[in-house]
Amino acid sequence: MSLSFEGRVVLVTGAGGGLGREYALAFAERGASVIVNDLGVDTKGVGKSSAAADKVVEEIRAKGGKAVANYDSVEDGEKLIQAALDAFGRIDVVVNNAGILRDRSFASTSDLDWDLIQRIHLRGSFQVTRAAWSHMKKQKYGRIIMTASAAGIYGNFGQANYSAAKLGLLGLSNTLAIEGRKYNIHCNTIAPVAGSRLTETVMPPDLLATLKPEYVAPLVLWLCHDQCQENGGLFETGAGWIGKLRWERAQGHIARSKNQPITAEAVRDQWDKICDFTDSSTPSNIQESLQLIVSTLSQVESEGEVGANPTAAASVSSSGMSPAEAVGHKLPPNTFNYNHAQCILYALGVGMSTKEPDHLRFLYEGHQDFGCLPTFGVIPAQAAMMELTSVPGINFDLTKLLHGEQYLELYKPLPTSGPLTSQSTIADVLDKGSGAVIILDVNTYCGDELLCFNQFSLFVTGAGGFGGKRNSNKAKATVPPPQRPPDAVVTDFTTRDQAALYRLSGDWNPLHIDPSFAAMGGFKAPILHGLCSFGFAARNVLKQFANNDPSRFKAIKVRFAKTLVPGQSLKTEMWKEGNRIHFQCKVNDTDVILLSGAYMDLHDAPDASPESLTQVCSAENTQHSNSHSSMHSSSEASCFLVPTIVQVGGLQSELVFAEIGRRIKDSGSELVKKVNAVFGWEITKDGKITAQWTIDLKNGSGSLHKGPDGGKADVTLTVSDEDFMDVVQGKLNPQKAFFSGKLKVKGNIMLSQKLDVILKDYAKL
Ligand code: NAI
Repeated sequence: MSLSFEGRVVLVTGAGGGLGREYALAFAERGASVIVNDLGVDTKGVGKSSAAADKVVEEIRAKGGKAVANYDSVEDGEKLIQAALDAFGRIDVVVNNAGILRDRSFASTSDLDWDLIQRIHLRGSFQVTRAAWSHMKKQKYGRIIMTASAAGIYGNFGQANYSAAKLGLLGLSNTLAIEGRKYNIHCNTIAPVAGSRLTETVMPPDLLATLKPEYVAPLVLWLCHDQCQENGGLFETGAGWIGKLRWERAQGHIARSKNQPITAEAVRDQWDKICDFTDSSTPSNIQESLQLIVSTLSQVESEGEVGANPTAAASVSSSGMSPAEAVGHKLPPNTFNYNHAQCILYALGVGMSTKEPDHLRFLYEGHQDFGCLPTFGVIPAQAAMMELTSVPGINFDLTKLLHGEQYLELYKPLPTSGPLTSQSTIADVLDKGSGAVIILDVNTYCGDELLCFNQFSLFVTGAGGFGGKRNSNKAKATVPPPQRPPDAVVTDFTTRDQAALYRLSGDWNPLHIDPSFAAMGGFKAPILHGLCSFGFAARNVLKQFANNDPSRFKAIKVRFAKTLVPGQSLKTEMWKEGNRIHFQCKVNDTDVILLSGAYMDLHDAPDASPESLTQVCSAENTQHSNSHSSMHSSSEASCFLVPTIVQVGGLQSELVFAEIGRRIKDSGSELVKKVNAVFGWEITKDGKITAQWTIDLKNGSGSLHKGPDGGKADVTLTVSDEDFMDVVQGKLNPQKAFFSGKLKVKGNIMLSQKLDVILKDYAKL
């Protein structure tokens, strides 16, 4: 659909010619009411005329557009905004474009050359934008453009005054983007290149003619449209090319040692490292920028010795990381006890909601297909991370530990209860210069059966430089997504309490809830667990491409690129390539990539056999909590699939079902009309399912057959042979049996009310 500006009021400053004129015409053509401002000066800011603005207004009106002229200087910002209010009653968009040049080599730049440039570009944009700000805040809508220049970004001979003002505008825009965000006021900066009277002295005539200002206008229009969520961006554009710019920061180097003054010599000696952009980062806000600085403080204080001189670095390597000792080391086994409540809590933690009917299978233990989200598989394994400090050859402070990447592979759908036991091994230790990466492999078992494999890639800041290898063939690699628009995009809204909820699944790090702890790590507010965003993204992929079927999940890999604050929304972009679904997650407000290089591998769609989905894990020994100390407890654990039916004769219920079958035959289709449902029965003996029956009172004239319902049952009832007989004989009220847990109901629970019809009238012995 084309982008309309109908109903929007747009102010373009300096719109009497050049780029401003193109913007004004383009906005008007798409329905905006435009204030065409221009003081009508020459390129040096001398003179004054209303002709320029009038001419553009005439052009717009001639095409049937809405426009008024304004001849004030941008230094009188209030007047420009008043003109918009007088003519159209509101102000939605401000394009700060007016500008002049007073180029001089730096030495000959006069006070006037300096001041005029700052006044028109920087102060003018400030005056106009401040006048519009309160109106935009009130209406909770605003779009602002600042016009910078490549001269400001890169410098240009003879333009010291202009460069300073132009990059000043970027600083102004960066802060307005932050202050305006919560009012839906977005501010972006462009650095255009176009032929105009300003550039005619610096560009050859044929280039001047071909670099048309109209090539720039579409970017401005998009950035000013209400659909555009870009905020705080900087874009270079010209000739129809548009590219976003960002800051890149070298990994850098700590040139200071504990209790030692930092010296110019230390800086000189580490200059190459300070300027090395290998493994650089792209901090996108001040928190990310400060994080490293703050962590440097604690790093120097707590570990000392990190520093400028090679001997200090060597001491870190000997006391910090020693791959030779660490690799292959096995951590004590860890037992994780859980039941359906933890599975549901996890599903809620990763944003599932009863608002979505298809989420119920992960939120309601009575649901016919109740199961565990596959990514719950990280939960039994994650405690191993906390045990790393006890591994020989690995010495570090836990506050330096960042979760870098995660791989999870399931060999079976996860049971909804257990104890599960995890065995963890240090697969590798890598030296990434500024930090070390520990690759931790965790195998999780249900009894003797291997259920899943996790690989945690953990980054320890400041622990590198020990002379180890950079890469490992044991590491599961991330894979970039295809170079095409995603096949599916889902936006999720995390709540303010998302991390508070998610941590109940077992990651208790105060970084996710305690503001003062988060501040120590350089974060403005507690951040969401990376594995929580991972859970959000994964359930989206499973829903979009595997119909929420946990048995189709094979494996998942993600890289945690950035952090998210609870309350921010996140966008999952997905690409299907055969059975591999590539995905990435972005912070929705900023488009910053949160999870990168991610994919989920799926099994082929099965010829659905729902029985294969439900697993029960039981163990004789269940007293152990999620703690590494109970080393051998889970060896007695056993795991079995529900459909593993032990056929034992002599069940009392057999007779009852035989009678039910006879009566169904007799009653014909009358009963089918009355009940209209298929009931599955699972009769247990000594805790194990020993018989299955299907009573079909939905199809034809009804039927009974011994065996599983083949996925047809509307409701499935599980009860012991004894309790079944008590219910049939009226000794046990079916409702009481249900609430006391003797009778388990999966599927459409309301249908169980029709049981009376079957049991009372048709089970007379
Ligand atoms: P232009 O000279 O054609 O347009 C600037 C307009 O601003 C003129 O019509 C002028 O009368 C008006 N103006 C000057 N002072 C004013 C004031 N105090 N109040 C109201 N209006 C005033 O120049 P062009 O090329 O269209 O430039 C537009 C903007 O783009 C400027 O901010 C310029 O610095 C910037 N820019 C342009 C580049 C290019 O390649 N054309 C390169 C980088 C930046």
